[in-house]
Amino acid sequence: MERAPKFEGRPVWAEISLGAIQRNFRRIRRHIGRGRKILSVVKGNAYGHGAVPVSKALAKAGSDWFGVTSTAEGIELREAGIRQPILLLTGFWPGEERRILRYRLTPVVTEITQLHLLERAARRVGRRLDFHLKVDTGMSRLGIAPSAADAFLAALADCPHLRLGGTMTHFASSEVFTNTQTEAQLRVFLDFVARLRAAGLHPGLLHLANSAAIASRPETWGDMVRPGALLYGYHQRYDPPERLAEVCETLPLEPALSLRARIVSLRDLPAGVGIGYNARFVTDRPSRIAVIPAGYADGLVRQLSNTGRVIVRGRCVPIVGIVSMDLTTIDVTDVPGVRLGDVVTIFGRQGPLSRSPFDVAAEIGTVTSDLLCALGSRVPRFYRR
Ligand SMILES: Cc1ncc(COP(=O)(O)O)c(C=O)c1O
Repeated sequence: MERAPKFEGRPVWAEISLGAIQRNFRRIRRHIGRGRKILSVVKGNAYGHGAVPVSKALAKAGSDWFGVTSTAEGIELREAGIRQPILLLTGFWPGEERRILRYRLTPVVTEITQLHLLERAARRVGRRLDFHLKVDTGMSRLGIAPSAADAFLAALADCPHLRLGGTMTHFASSEVFTNTQTEAQLRVFLDFVARLRAAGLHPGLLHLANSAAIASRPETWGDMVRPGALLYGYHQRYDPPERLAEVCETLPLEPALSLRARIVSLRDLPAGVGIGYNARFVTDRPSRIAVIPAGYADGLVRQLSNTGRVIVRGRCVPIVGIVSMDLTTIDVTDVPGVRLGDVVTIFGRQGPLSRSPFDVAAEIGTVTSDLLCALGSRVPRFYRR
């Protein structure tokens, strides 16, 4: 979007390229080959990008499945007209079974007792219900233990209305190549699947790979992959870091999001003046300080206080003082011609300069997805095809 969108109200907004998301999807498709399915992870409001518009764009691009984290997120997609299967990646809560059936959502079973809840609900409406099984292969978070395979098989035998449509696991550190945790998880998973098969149970779709595994570990691709961050244009930070250059070459991506605001206040201050809460920045020279109407409730996270940078008129300038909920102060002393109303780029590209959420996340010691999900619900999103 070359020009700022026209709209009324508080001048902070996100520009989201649905075209970039679709191109990232197609790049993933080419990378993994046509024989495998892709489940687009659109939980967390599609990592802040807007679950409904993003899912519609991905459905057009050919996404086979969608992954969300809650029944409410799944229902939002169904009501918006998404017809593809929707997987509830982190399971479901007792009492949600009827809505799962009604909206044709696919639950992930993470505890054996959940089978009975689903069976009872499916029996009541006289329908068969597909579910996926999550196996805890070493993340030690959600999923049934590999040692519970026999208990699972016995419980499922008592559930004639349920069908195992897929078996999955989640990697704890697929971006790390300095240990062998992912290899170990893969082995545990394949052993578990072999036990199901030996007992005469078809495991359904096998899926394990998140973004880093998709980008760099073909042996984990199974029947379906589950990209999140890749869709929005970001790789992970790898260990060792040199791996990143390799994956950027084999799987180039386009970041889809820009976050921008306009300067709403400009003041010239002498040296020695404290700026913002607790005067955590004090001018050390006569300074021109600008205010942008974006704070941590918008996604300009507080960790950027006194350390972050934004782009104005082709220059990278520092955030000075504490980022507050609604406002942030920046030092524009060195920006010739700076004016009220100038567009400030918080994330994204402006001319030849760019502030990628990937780099910003690295600077403050977090992951890109954390920054993306912080994008506030009050920030208007403008979509570009
Ligand atoms: C089960 C599962 N699969 C896939 C993903 C996507 O992860 P990424 O954004 O690293 O691709 C997530 C995200 O947390 C997840 O929980």
